[in-house]
Amino acid sequence: MDMASTGTWTVCVGVLLFLAISGSMAVAPLKPVHVPFHRNYMPTWAFDHINYFNGGNEIQLKLDKYTGTGFQSKGSYLFGHFSMQIKMVPGDSAGTVTAFYLSSNNAEHDEIDFEFLGNRTGQPYILQTNVFTGGKGNREHRIYLWFDPTKDYHSYSVLWNMYMIAFFVDDIPIRVFKNSKDLGIKFPFDQPMKIYSSLWNADDWATRGGLEKTDWSKAPFIAAYKSFHIDGCQASVDAKFCATQGMKWWDKKEFQDLDAYQYRRLSWVRSKYTIYNYCTDRVRFATMPAECKRDRDA
Ligand SMILES: *[C@@H]1O[C@H](CO)[C@@H](O)[C@H](O)[C@H]1NC(C)=O
Repeated sequence: MDMASTGTWTVCVGVLLFLAISGSMAVAPLKPVHVPFHRNYMPTWAFDHINYFNGGNEIQLKLDKYTGTGFQSKGSYLFGHFSMQIKMVPGDSAGTVTAFYLSSNNAEHDEIDFEFLGNRTGQPYILQTNVFTGGKGNREHRIYLWFDPTKDYHSYSVLWNMYMIAFFVDDIPIRVFKNSKDLGIKFPFDQPMKIYSSLWNADDWATRGGLEKTDWSKAPFIAAYKSFHIDGCQASVDAKFCATQGMKWWDKKEFQDLDAYQYRRLSWVRSKYTIYNYCTDRVRFATMPAECKRDRDA
């Protein structure tokens, strides 16, 4: 082998090694993938309040004093990784709520929520998350973000498998809800969910507990979205299991729990940005809900 081909060979091995390593890193599949809106989603209500740009690669939801609007996935899913890039309503967004959630939308429903509570100009948004299992919710966490979510797109995602539901902001885990079936807590596993997003007026509770009202002179309020990739096991609405259960990347060992690095980041978020955690609300819950044993950050 001459020097030139040895060099090429070394580069090739290097690239392969790099691919092998990055492929096994827990964060790799969590990167945003750019897919246009119409491939996976459709409007749910107030169709004329959604605007499409660049072939649907980017969309805007509009809230005015007549109505908000929303959209939903065409398919329903049992497990997977669900992400969206969102740029929140800029300026005075007090009273508005932008939501991104998964729901089975039935009587004893399962639901995984991101809710972004707007604020007066210059005041921080709150990100509220919640998990409903078998119709039972009351599991709110609230955090401030470490950036201004109105300035740029950021990705918000949920990883859902049989072991946990993990919430991510960009690649940083902000919450983990472990499967605590062994503690008598229901965990979503047999009710397919659709993905929903909406922008609406909630000035009866959203900002400073409802003290700050929506200033309609600032309307329309606009939230922008892109990257409509869905990576889940598609199942019919009333399916009870996923045909590929246990075989997809999100079922693999390295996604059954966060890794040490991810736990460090989670602990950073929790210690610096937490506003509220139902697991520490002794006034509301005299006895700590059983799953809170696993609401940990290290
Ligand atoms: C809005 O700003 C106020 C004042 O800084 C803050 O107390 C509150 O948590 C912020 N967010 C919301 C959604 O109320």
